[in-house]
Amino acid sequence: MKVRCLTLFFAIISLFGYAQATAEVQGPGKAAIASAHELATEAGLRILDQGGNAFDAAVAVSAALAVVEPASSGIGGGGFWLLHRAADDLSIMVDGRETAPAAATADMYLDEDGRVDRDLATNGPLAAGIPGAPAAWAHIAEQYGRLSLADSLAPAIELAEQGFEVDLKYQQLLNWRAHVMLRWPETAAIFMDGENVPDIGHRVIQTDLAATLRALAEQGLDGFYRGSVAERLVAGVRDQGGIWTLEDLAGYRGVEREPVRTEYRGYQLITASPPSSGGIAIAQILNIIEPFDLASLSRIERVHLLSEAMRRAYRDRALYLGDPDFVEIPYEMLLSPHYAAGLRAAIRLDRATPSGMLAADPGLLVRPESDNTTHFSLIDAEGNMVSGTLTINLPYGAAFAPPGTGVLLNNEMDDFAAAPGEPNAYGLIGFAANAIEPGKRMLSSMTPTIVMSPDRVAVIGTPGGARIITMVLLGVLDFIDGNGPESWVSMPRLHHQYQPDEISLERAAADDELKAGLEALGHEVSVRARPWGNMHGVMWDRTTGTVEAAHDPRWESGSAVVADGEAGRGGEG
Ligand code: DON
Repeated sequence: MKVRCLTLFFAIISLFGYAQATAEVQGPGKAAIASAHELATEAGLRILDQGGNAFDAAVAVSAALAVVEPASSGIGGGGFWLLHRAADDLSIMVDGRETAPAAATADMYLDEDGRVDRDLATNGPLAAGIPGAPAAWAHIAEQYGRLSLADSLAPAIELAEQGFEVDLKYQQLLNWRAHVMLRWPETAAIFMDGENVPDIGHRVIQTDLAATLRALAEQGLDGFYRGSVAERLVAGVRDQGGIWTLEDLAGYRGVEREPVRTEYRGYQLITASPPSSGGIAIAQILNIIEPFDLASLSRIERVHLLSEAMRRAYRDRALYLGDPDFVEIPYEMLLSPHYAAGLRAAIRLDRATPSGMLAADPGLLVRPESDNTTHFSLIDAEGNMVSGTLTINLPYGAAFAPPGTGVLLNNEMDDFAAAPGEPNAYGLIGFAANAIEPGKRMLSSMTPTIVMSPDRVAVIGTPGGARIITMVLLGVLDFIDGNGPESWVSMPRLHHQYQPDEISLERAAADDELKAGLEALGHEVSVRARPWGNMHGVMWDRTTGTVEAAHDPRWESGSAVVADGEAGRGGEG
């Protein structure tokens, strides 16, 4: 497996493949979209109705989410868009991950005592990487879409101008971040109601964001990364202690990367590659568990085995993974079945391996997860698919929008290892491979994934910080077990991330017998009161022609629709 910088690579394979393969491919004949907000799903359906393909719809859904789910992703953030084009079987990951500004330094968040200053790393403009989302949208529209970027951004522009109604999720996540946002009254004026978190039903109108989106629609990349929007962004950031320059924005490049591919029980997984850690970690876990017949294990054995595999993959994440343009990632080792066999050999079925017995154990603590970031899954009638996970990191990102832009900035800089072995907001640790360097992309856990066999296809992903990887893994295993998206998105979740050395279980996944059984094997078990994740999935069964879509029941704002071509929109999936 190699990961390459692909602008050139794309041009070569697509020209050959596309011309040859177009005729024979049979799509499902109907489309499906599952996203975190019904207005975003609607935006995608509208673009499909206008003759757009899955890639146009992906731009429309992403941009609409940026407007109506501002806690989770946005034009001031980034993401990974995993595309599959049916006509020539091309799968590619569009990497719109943020980059560190040129003036960033390895110790920029350390105080005099060498401790990470969490306020600087997560709140306000110094926490923000250079946004990648607009570059990714423009690239997807231009290279893969059938409509123009302006067409696909139109629904988002309308939503920004006309406003949308505050829902429970908006409120809950803002409750958490409002005290930070109030430091910047012009930002608070957009998202709050005076000094208060708005009531449900309050209309959020984003006039400046509409103008910024319009500049992008009309001028393409230059509308955001150069000219008056860029000038306002940089002025606003620098005025409040940030370090962005016009050159940082003008120099931002989205990158196409070859996805990680792996096989498991006859299914091909196509999943996120670095600077996401997700695909490699999932491939490692699947390689470790491969010889086991999970169905024949007891529930305790199954959770134990999965946790031991997760522990080892997250250890390697901390040690080896970072931006592939900056660090040498040992892909062959990490993805090799032989390496996995070595890791497997050290797993005892009758005993937990303390994380401290594996190398690189800083023994540090985790903080609870939040559910921001967002994921959508979609398929069009031709069988083109997009799995997109997008983020501005913590809810409402850095909680700061440079005046006059409406662009709520990310706080993705916290995904770097600000100091070796110091946990970030998700309790994740890292070392040199993920140290801050100018222009570098911070390591991510976002894992948009597509799973295929000759008979069945799944498009899957979720937000959830460090837990994204294990949630996607569990969803993929459930799909491979024969279940549909309703089951993947709702199943109870379990997680191990090496440090802290504990299995965490959603309450619905935990009962006394399981807990006692795992503790008897030597595991620490923590049962979380709050559920986690917000998974959205789509499935196409080629044998029956069925298409299904499902949104995570943990948040009521999600929406999943199967649209039956001529026959209209179909029902909720
Ligand atoms: O890229 C990452 O891994 C994180 N910034 C994602 C954050 C996230 O999923 C937050 N949601 N719970």
